[in-house]
Amino acid sequence: MKKSRPQRIRKAVIPVAGRGTRFLPASKAIPKEMLTIVDRPTIQYIVEEAVESGIDQIIFISSEGKEAIENHFDYDYELDTVLEKKGREKLHDEVKRISSLIDIVSVRQKKPLGLGHAILSARNVVGDEPFLVLLGDDLVLSETPCCRQMLDLYNEVQEPIVAVQSVPEDQTSRYGIVEGEPSSARVYKVERLIEKPAPGTTDSNLAIIGRYILHPDIFAILAKTTPGQGGEIQLTDALLALTKKRAMYAFEFSGTRYDAGDKMGYLQAVVAYALHHPQLKDDFRRHIKEVAASL
Ligand code: UTP
Repeated sequence: MKKSRPQRIRKAVIPVAGRGTRFLPASKAIPKEMLTIVDRPTIQYIVEEAVESGIDQIIFISSEGKEAIENHFDYDYELDTVLEKKGREKLHDEVKRISSLIDIVSVRQKKPLGLGHAILSARNVVGDEPFLVLLGDDLVLSETPCCRQMLDLYNEVQEPIVAVQSVPEDQTSRYGIVEGEPSSARVYKVERLIEKPAPGTTDSNLAIIGRYILHPDIFAILAKTTPGQGGEIQLTDALLALTKKRAMYAFEFSGTRYDAGDKMGYLQAVVAYALHHPQLKDDFRRHIKEVAASL
């Protein structure tokens, strides 16, 4: 492992331009990233994870119909005035806090050509520096923010990192899967990546989740990547090409990941976040116990 001082990662790209078909009809007029988990939209938890990890700027990759996401983090003068006049101090502070969380830039992905294409849309804004990617519908509940854990590892390895979790064997065909050699505790040197492998085609159950640290050299590769699985430009295909050029690591983070873009994952996230909510957790735990006893 190298010892020189790594370049600080300042920017996080959050793609939110996907169609969200798995969450229809709820996602027809409301972006799935704006669906509520207890008392705030999914996207706010993700932005807060980046902020708590020390990121300076968020780059949303957005599309038509997703304006509510940008509005959520914008300053709303009228709402600010109403809450102040009504003396709703706590709400006033919270609404103000959201709009001053972090510097946010938004880039349009003109067509939903896939996650790889969405990240390529950030090329000019990211420039020539390493950056984080957080998928806008992937939540990670953890003591130390998942991105913070990844940045700590990055300071040691100074190479691209994908966050992974072990999944049951019968679920590997739903994910991008990493094959690799263990290099230290919970860290693997990536040898191969396969997008949604057919059952029986890999021995690995390490599934890529929606957190990545990438270097700007990924953009040239993405620009040459042709449509893969599902006719989309897949980030996994570009990452596979990258492994031929440089080292890449897979990291089993501490925490639990929820796919909030999927109905079941969303429901699991609501329960988990409610059980951790400072004001609601005790009453909610009692309620869950009553429900479980009545089943
Ligand atoms: P998903 O696989 O969840 O796709 O994308 P999706 O289109 O959003 O949802 P479904 O599958 O139709 O229900 C993973 C991430 O990549 C973004 C999504 O917004 C999500 O954060 N994405 C995907 C884009 O930004 N652009 C794309 O063209 C595709």
